[in-house]
Amino acid sequence: MNPVRGNVTVIDHPLIQHKLTIMRNKETSIAGFRRLLREIAHLMCYEVTRDLELEMITIETPMAQMQSPAIKGKKLVFASILRAGNGLLDGMLDLVPAARVAHIGLYRDHETLQPVEYYFKAPSNLEDRLIIVVDPMLATANSATAAIEKLKERGANNIRFLCLLAAPEGVARFTEAHPDVPVFTAAIDEKLNEKGYIIPGLGDAGDRMYGTK
Ligand code: URA
Repeated sequence: MNPVRGNVTVIDHPLIQHKLTIMRNKETSIAGFRRLLREIAHLMCYEVTRDLELEMITIETPMAQMQSPAIKGKKLVFASILRAGNGLLDGMLDLVPAARVAHIGLYRDHETLQPVEYYFKAPSNLEDRLIIVVDPMLATANSATAAIEKLKERGANNIRFLCLLAAPEGVARFTEAHPDVPVFTAAIDEKLNEKGYIIPGLGDAGDRMYGTK
């Protein structure tokens, strides 16, 4: 069983934890980091979508007609908080290739740590769709809370948030701002430092994915 605290689920599957340890290691290459993030996204996607409702549909196999289960309702939406969210997004789309995608461009002002929006593009009909917002790092939660506010303004009413690592401060801020949004993470680390980085964390996820500094 994955431990659940309030509406935060820590997905502590051994494969996820092992891969996360390699990602945290500063010696891991950019290619390795990217590949592992994608692999972890597969494993986490499996857990986050575990309770999706099914309906029986009629199909024809080469041998006979049958009733077979299929995911019920409108297509899922994955909302990636740019740019590091795209690392998780790629893995999620491997498993749910028909999902719709929203991109939310927010960067952190390094002085104020507040999110600055520079891009927002989402499917127009967000009502009654499951929207899974992805960003590897839930640090101050400023970007995540702002992204979810934007989605709610556009009608989203069924949202989950998926990250790789969270800071306790970010979890507290996020769950206070959006108590209706369940959070899924692979680990909750010790703390944030004065620059808003997660300690021990894994550094800047975007820089490690894209080889920037
Ligand atoms: N964003 C990152 O990429 N890393 C952190 O530690 C915090 C925010």
